[in-house]
Amino acid sequence: MKIFAHRGSSGTHPENTLAAFQKAAELPVAGVELDVHLSKDGELIVIHDEKVNRTTNGKGYVKDLTLAELKNLDAGNWKGEEWVGEKIPTLAEVLDVFAETSHIINVELKTDIFPYEGAVGKVIELAADKHFSGRIVISSFNHLDVQQALQVHHARAALLASNILVDITDYAKSIGTNRLHLSLPYALRHGAQLVEKGCKVYVYTVNSLDYAKQLQAIGVHGIFTDFPENMWEQLK
Ligand code: G3P
Repeated sequence: MKIFAHRGSSGTHPENTLAAFQKAAELPVAGVELDVHLSKDGELIVIHDEKVNRTTNGKGYVKDLTLAELKNLDAGNWKGEEWVGEKIPTLAEVLDVFAETSHIINVELKTDIFPYEGAVGKVIELAADKHFSGRIVISSFNHLDVQQALQVHHARAALLASNILVDITDYAKSIGTNRLHLSLPYALRHGAQLVEKGCKVYVYTVNSLDYAKQLQAIGVHGIFTDFPENMWEQLK
């Protein structure tokens, strides 16, 4: 079962910052997950929420701020004084952290609330420029973007799903993937069946060793965790 550092090593470092990714890059885990929005001037920005409020000293939507304005914010202090000075990174900066490693980079496109026109194409182009194409997994709650990513990005793409009212394997096939990123409660209920049906099942966010072991026992392919170092130590 593969381990992914969720938003970097976000349990011990400020999520989605270079500090969190540098820590993850040192670990022998399979990969890292991060979240991408577009700034006002069209840059690929790595941050989880639509607004900067929770994880920085600023206010407002990422989409309403330029890269320069976003770079002026502190993205570390909310996690603890030792992290003061951490900045919101661009996707290009994060990829550079992993240039010499073999980690898989799961780019979650946060296009389910704001459409972020052109974001899928920008990620694919950047990945190609940085020679990451084979190491990128694109995922989104916006399944139209997952479908678009599959059409142009032949490596891998993923579907994030919680409860839907149709057979999830048929649904996944209809958008062209068999890779499902499922919430923990959903995976505990349906994971075994989906694995049996041939789906690649990845589960978020798994911070408890007991749940990780349950998921491992049913053949889940990967988990996203905020504590990748601990999880790897305990599962190896
Ligand atoms: O990509 C898996 C997981 O991170 C999805 O949930 O809220 O952390 O983006 P969230």
